[in-house]
Amino acid sequence: MRLVEPSIEWEQEHCTYIDEWGQNRLIPSSLNLEGYQSYSEFIAELDKRKKGDGKWLPFSSYFLVNDDNRILGMIDIRHELNDFLYRIGGNIGYSVRPTERKKGYATLALKLGLEKCRDLGMKEVLITCDQDNIGSAKVIINNGGVEAHSETDSDGTVKRRFWIYL
Ligand SMILES: CC(C)(COP(=O)(O)OP(=O)(O)OC[C@H]1O[C@@H](n2cnc3c(N)ncnc32)[C@H](O)[C@@H]1OP(=O)(O)O)[C@@H](O)C(=O)NCCC(=O)NCCS
Repeated sequence: MRLVEPSIEWEQEHCTYIDEWGQNRLIPSSLNLEGYQSYSEFIAELDKRKKGDGKWLPFSSYFLVNDDNRILGMIDIRHELNDFLYRIGGNIGYSVRPTERKKGYATLALKLGLEKCRDLGMKEVLITCDQDNIGSAKVIINNGGVEAHSETDSDGTVKRRFWIYL
């Protein structure tokens, strides 16, 4: 099992992942393909955005891929926090495809993602989840998350916030 960066050869797998996701808002949003005319346009835009381009802070995104080259999950690492990310979004977002949940893959994706954070020189990361997202809270706690105060988003959603010290 490994993390790989999106590139042109993952087009088919990436599309299958999104199809399985259905109508739900894709997490992380940086790996949504909506609005692109082609996969190469998505890759070109991702390469531009991930360096930071005004709206986007620098970030890295990865697929969690198994030995059969199937994408099982996705993870996105925001290298810095702005006010919104500090309060609500955090440094890291992740998901696992619906048919592969509750098998430990998100816990593994975050563990591997934290290694990337260490490589980036990050000393601590903030990870948030909705108050009712028990699975995500467990993923964070499994990886050493220390809970801080919660915040409330503009739509009233309460976000639990956790720091992981690297
Ligand atoms: C949240 C999510 C990433 C969890 O992925 P996963 O691969 O199922 O997580 P894991 O298998 O590593 O599970 C970690 C723990 O949470 C538990 N868990 C997972 N989903 C759960 C759920 N829906 N309800 C209760 N517990 C749950 C697991 O049993 C496991 O418990 P354990 O540590 O005691 O063994 C996945 O459900 C998902 O992609 N959800 C939509 C996107 C999302 O919410 N992302 C997080 C944004 S903060």
